[in-house]
Amino acid sequence: MGLLIKNGEIVTASERYVADIYCEDETITRIGTSLDAPPDTKVIDASGKYVFPGFIDPHVHIYLPFMGTYAKDDYTSGSKAALMGGTTTLIEMLCPSKDEDLLEAYALWKSKAEGISACDWTYHMGVPRFDDKAREQLSEIIDDGISSFKFFLAYKGVFNLSDEELYHALCFAKERGVIGTAHCENADLVLELQKKLIAEGKTGPEWHYHSRPPFVEASGTAKFLTFAEATGAAAYIVHLSCNESLREVMRARYAGVRAFVEIVIPYLTVDMSYAELPDFEGAKYVMSPPLRHKRNQDIFWNGLQQGFIHTVATDHAPFDFKGQKEMGRDDFTKIPNGIPSIEERVKLLYSFGVAEGRIDLNTFVNCASTQAAKIFGLYPRKGTIQLGADADLVIYDPNYEGVISQKTHSMNIDYSAFEGWKIKGRPETVTVRGELAVDQGSFVGTHGRGKMVRREPCHY
Ligand code: URP
Ligand code: ZN
Ligand code: ZN
Repeated sequence: MGLLIKNGEIVTASERYVADIYCEDETITRIGTSLDAPPDTKVIDASGKYVFPGFIDPHVHIYLPFMGTYAKDDYTSGSKAALMGGTTTLIEMLCPSKDEDLLEAYALWKSKAEGISACDWTYHMGVPRFDDKAREQLSEIIDDGISSFKFFLAYKGVFNLSDEELYHALCFAKERGVIGTAHCENADLVLELQKKLIAEGKTGPEWHYHSRPPFVEASGTAKFLTFAEATGAAAYIVHLSCNESLREVMRARYAGVRAFVEIVIPYLTVDMSYAELPDFEGAKYVMSPPLRHKRNQDIFWNGLQQGFIHTVATDHAPFDFKGQKEMGRDDFTKIPNGIPSIEERVKLLYSFGVAEGRIDLNTFVNCASTQAAKIFGLYPRKGTIQLGADADLVIYDPNYEGVISQKTHSMNIDYSAFEGWKIKGRPETVTVRGELAVDQGSFVGTHGRGKMVRREPCHY
C-alpha cells in the first residue's frame, strides 16, 4: 500500500518548500504538487506541519554492560522511544571490553537488535585492542557493512587502548576508508584525579566534574587528533563537551585533519549545576565527559548554526536512579555514567534551538539527521527527502505544546533528566521506510521491522 503525505512544508538541510510526497516499496517515489492517490493509498494531510527526513542519532548505547551493571533499555523500549522522538535510525556504540573476542561481541550486539528493533540501526565498532587477530576480525566486520570504529581514550583498563595500538588501528582505518570516532578524555589523568578526590573525602556527584575538568578532555582531544594527523585517518570526536576541546578541533582542522564534532543534547540544555542538586539527585546528571559551565552552550549553538559543530546526538546511556545510580552514593566514581535522552533529543533541539531562534530549520535538520548520514555513509538513502531515499519521514507539528515526564516516556528508566520541562512541537507522525511507526503521537510501529543498515567505507 502506498503512502501519500499532502501539503506539508518539506524541510531538508538546504531547502524548504510545500509539496506532496508519495512513498511506495519503502522509498520516496514522487515529490510534487497535487499528486494523486492511487487506490489503496493511505493519505495524510500535513497542512501547517513540517515534513522532515527521519532523524538519525549517531551515538546511542542500548546494550551496554558498564560499570558493574547493564544499561536499562533494550531494543524493545529503546527503538520505541527513539521513534516516539522522531529518530528513525540509530547508530549504536558496540563496546566490547579488552578481553572480549571482537567477532563474538559483534554477533552478541547484533542478536540484541535483530528481530526486535522497530527502527533501523547500525554500529560504530568498538576497538579496545589492536593486533593481527583484531585486524582480521575487523576486516570481516567492515565487509559486513560497518564503516566506523569507536576508540576510548578513557575508562582505563576496560575499553581504552595503548598509543601503539591506536596508531596502528588508525592506519588500518585510513587504509580501509573507515572513520575513527573517539571518546577523548585522558584515562590516566581521570584515574589519578578520582583517587585524589576520594582520598580527600570528596565523594558526592558534584565532584565528578572535578575528576574530569576541561583540560583532561582537551588533552585527550588534542592527542586523538594528533594521531589522526599522523595517520591521515578521518576523526569524529564524540560528545565534545567544552570550548577547550573545540579549540583543539579547530586547530587540527586548520592543519588539514578531517575532523568532525558531535555534541549531545544534555550539553546544550543542562549544565554542571545540575550535578550539584541535593539528596544525591545530582547523580541523575552524571555522564562523561561531565556537564560543563553554562557559558559553553552559546558557543555550541553558534557552532551548530555556523557548521563547525556537525551533529547533535544523545549518548543515550540509561541507568535507573534507584539501584543503579545509587551504586555510587558513597563514591561518585561508582555512579554509572549516562543521561538518557533518546526520546527527547529532537524535541529539545527544536524547542531550545529553533523555537528560541538559536538555529534555523535547515540547520536543525542538518545536525539532527543529514550530517550523520553524510559522515557515516548513509546518505542519500537516509538523512534527506529526495526521490529514491528511504521513506523515513517525520511530520512535525510545530504548534504542539507538551511537558516531558518520566510518567509518559517510553524509555525503560525510572527518571527523566528533563522532568516537567515544557517543549514546543512534536513528531506527530513517523514512518520507517514507508510504514507508520508513530501515528498522531501514539506508537504503532512493528518490533522486528527495523533493519541493520549496511554502510560502505568512505575515503574522506
Ligand atoms: O557518560 C557516558 N557518556 N556514558 C556512556 C559511555 C560513554 O562514555 O559514552
Ligand atoms: Zn563516551
Ligand atoms: Zn557513549
